[in-house]
Amino acid sequence: MSAEIMYGDVLANKLRDELKIEVQQLKRQNIVPKLTVLIIGNNPASKTYVRMKQKACEKVGISSQVIELDQEISEEELLLHINELNNDSSVHGILVQLPLPDHINEKRILEYIEPTKDVDGFHPINIGRMQIGQDALVPCTPLGIMKLLEYYGINPTGKHAVVVGRSNIVGKPVGQLLLNGNATVTYCHSKTSNLSEITNKADILIVATGKANTIGESDLKEGAIVVDVGNTFLDDGRVVGDVDFESVKNKVSKITPVPKGVGPMTITMLLHNTVKVAKTFKY
Ligand code: GUN
Repeated sequence: MSAEIMYGDVLANKLRDELKIEVQQLKRQNIVPKLTVLIIGNNPASKTYVRMKQKACEKVGISSQVIELDQEISEEELLLHINELNNDSSVHGILVQLPLPDHINEKRILEYIEPTKDVDGFHPINIGRMQIGQDALVPCTPLGIMKLLEYYGINPTGKHAVVVGRSNIVGKPVGQLLLNGNATVTYCHSKTSNLSEITNKADILIVATGKANTIGESDLKEGAIVVDVGNTFLDDGRVVGDVDFESVKNKVSKITPVPKGVGPMTITMLLHNTVKVAKTFKY
């Protein structure tokens, strides 16, 4: 059996074209969607991600502003910047690029962002609202995964979804969204003792461990649907996911590739969330 490859870049391009039209419509009403990104310090990976976000905004007509702050900035000073953006009605989305320097309390910073401008969906209010099925700003990677599954005709209802990885950014929220979509959800993580036994029971397997080759052919059941959230850069310049694609590709029914799978959907959902706020999002 040959698997259907679920290309995220195809759907991402389609959704970005749709967002471009929505942005044009908003501009006709004198609303210019705007995302402000705060980046602290000189982490090269963070700088690359922020540049990618900025470029993606430009392409769909979203105004983007990047505020670069010194590595040594105090927590109080950073809070003042956020306060200003919280109160600036021209700013729809606020994103503080992670990781933060060690002397800054990440929890305190994320909780200080106005929840209706929290386009990352990391504020406890948004997480709580998502959990109880209310309208919320939903974290970008989990939302992108759900849109990708839907686009490829996969309805989670009644399916056994297994999530490997329990991060606040991906694992926990994607499991919650699958549960909201009527799947039966099992979470696995680094302390799970019988991982392969559980993943072998998955109809839908989401792998978000950040470790290459977490899942191979013997860890899957025939015909499983696999979403690979991994994005590991190898020394030879290649990017690989958490799943050994070559070994599983003839056993699964559908699988996301790396690259061009989940990755392009994540930034698209950031644009989606920013436009959602610009359309006068309220709870
Ligand atoms: N650093 C790595 N991924 C992310 C993300 O999705 N949002 C933010 N704010 N920082 C990140």
